Order: sequence, then structure tokens, then C-alpha cells
Amino acid sequence: MKKFISALISVILIFTMAFAMVGCKKGDDGVSKIGIAMPTKSLERWNRDGTFLKDEFEKKGYTVELKYSDNNVDQQVSDIENLIADDVDVLIVAAIDGESLTKVLDTAAEKEIPVISYDRLIMNTEAVSYYVSFDNYTVGKLQGEYVVDALGLDLSDTSTTYNIEFTAGDPADNNAGFFFNGAFDVLSPYIDAGILNVVSGQTDFEQVATASWSTETAMTRMQNILASYYSDGTVLDVALCSNDSTALGVTNAIASDYAGTNTVIITGQDGDEANLANIVDGLQSMTVFKAVANEAVVTVAIAELLIQGKTPDAALADTFDCECAYDTSSYDNGTGTIPSYLLVPSVVTVDNIEEELVTPGYYVWSGEYPVAAG
Ligand code: BGC
Repeated sequence: MKKFISALISVILIFTMAFAMVGCKKGDDGVSKIGIAMPTKSLERWNRDGTFLKDEFEKKGYTVELKYSDNNVDQQVSDIENLIADDVDVLIVAAIDGESLTKVLDTAAEKEIPVISYDRLIMNTEAVSYYVSFDNYTVGKLQGEYVVDALGLDLSDTSTTYNIEFTAGDPADNNAGFFFNGAFDVLSPYIDAGILNVVSGQTDFEQVATASWSTETAMTRMQNILASYYSDGTVLDVALCSNDSTALGVTNAIASDYAGTNTVIITGQDGDEANLANIVDGLQSMTVFKAVANEAVVTVAIAELLIQGKTPDAALADTFDCECAYDTSSYDNGTGTIPSYLLVPSVVTVDNIEEELVTPGYYVWSGEYPVAAG
């Protein structure tokens, strides 16, 4: 009898697995293929994203083709062409230039390959089915609010004034404007009140943007600003930087070229290892952390539903362990709003590295500095 029951259980298990395979795996060999296009290995976070996504899909039995395009738009177009030619079942793309993928994604649409716009919104194409990101405006808002708190700014008290400079991201990245606007909207009332002075006068996104989010470009620009506006002893109180790669350049410029002796408040985003070390050493004040492991989990869940021919909707957002909002109004890519799953960023300072980064398992200590886990 026991033998019969265990044989019966085995048969049921085999059937259940077989049905599950038929239900969600499509390729010729019975395994669905996922195509992932990441911008570059040279910016730390995309290495993490690529690895998390690949591991997460492979754990579930999918085949993954992962491409990095060296921050070169033509290269990314050709990488995506190859993924489409390889008959991937879903395309996941973090665009280098959100405006340059319209044509190649037409081909994806012709082949009915669903496209998930990963972290950065791809513009001017109807081929994008979903967008997964963090609340990008909130990232900037958190940076601005950090500055307000750190300086104790109060609109009714104009007796003390501070000097600030802005460094934003790559204009080709749709996120960059959201980050900048989030921060600027918080800080502009203080600029208007004369409490914050932008000594360089550079307050337009175009003036403060950094092509390719390059550390060197951000450094050179800040060196020029320091030489032109601060070499006479003018104090720089704040360098509002949209992310860690630009914050690193700005921090280096201040270390080498700033005449003042005060600690400049410097913001960032991502939790890159070099920046976390600078936070520990008191050279950078904060970073906005985005748990990209969760971004990968959400992306995989959407991809799985799409492969099963289902339509991800608001209900999916409630199934995750992390906080995730389903948003159908904020992100318009020029062809209409794209249904978005948005995760929640958090502020990391020297005081909460342990609780925000180490305790949840994202980073481990390597001596006195945090390094990415895994
Ligand atoms: C990402 C940021 C990152 C930046 C540069 C943005 O699109 O959202 O996390 O710092 O690109 O890689």
C-alpha cells in the first residue's frame, strides 16, 4: 500500500511539473529564453542588476542572454537586434539613450516579443509593455530633503545663507530629469528666498547635466566651477549630485581643488562601494539606496506572467515582500502612459549603513567599509 501511495505521488508530481512546464516555458527545447540588455559594466550598479536578473531567471529554469553595450548606443541597438534574432521570449532593456530604440523595438513588436523597460523609461515606442523602476522623483526629493534637514533650513529665517552647486545626470537617460526635478522642487523655494545661493548661476538641467553619468566629466565641471567661482575663498556648503558616479567626481574635485576647509554636504544615489567608503570616511554625506535585487524580483515576476500570456496588473504589486506601487499615470513615453511598477528608495548615511544595508544582507563589512554581498 505504502509503495502504491508513493508511486501515485510520484506520478502526480511528474504530471504537475509537466503541466507547469507547458504552462510557462515556450521555446523549441521547452525552455523560454530571456534577453537582457544592460547599458554598461563601467557604472557599478548595472553589474549588480545584470547578475541579479540572470540569477533570478536561471533559478526559475529560464535561459538567459545578457548583453552589456559599453554605454554605446549603436552597440546597444545591435545587441538588441541579436537578442531578437535569437528569438528571446521577453526583452528586458535598460536603455543607454531612451530616445534611440524606437526602430529596433519595432522589430520586437513585429515578432510579438514583450519588452520590459528596466529602470530607465524607453521613449517613443509602443513596444514597451511595462516599466519597472524606483520612484525616481522621490530619489531626488530625498536628496533635497536631506540638504534641508542637514542645514536646518527654514523659509522664515533668511539670516543665514548657504552656497550650493548642482550636478545632474545624463540627458539621454529619462530618469535624470526626474532626479533633478525632485531635488530642485524641494530646494527652489530656499533659492528663491535667497537662503541658498547657486554661485555659478547654473540651475538649468541642461547646464548641470553630466553626459553618460561620467565621474571624470563631473569632476572636470566641478573643478572649473571651483576655479571660476570659489577660488577667492567663497565657501561651498552643498554639492547636490544626482548619483554616486557623479558624486565621486565632485568629491574628487573638492578634495583636489577646493580652497575651503569646511565639510561640503554631498549627496548621491546607488550605494556604490567607493561612495559608501567615502560616506564612512566623512567625504560624502548620503546616498539614496535602491535595492536592485528587488527590482530584479519584480521584473522576473512580470516576465513570467507575460510568458504565460497573462496581463500583469495592480494585483501583482501586492504579492511582493518589498513595497511596490503599481502606477498608471506618471510615466508617459510619448506614446501614452506605460504601466509601471515602482519601488521605494531609502536614504543611507553613516549612521544607518548597518541597519539599511548590512542587516538586510545587501552588503557585508570588509574591514571598516561595506562591500556588496555575494
Ligand atoms: C539609474 C541610477 C544610476 C544612473 C547611472 C540611472 O538611470 O537609475 O541608479 O545611478 O542611471 O548609472
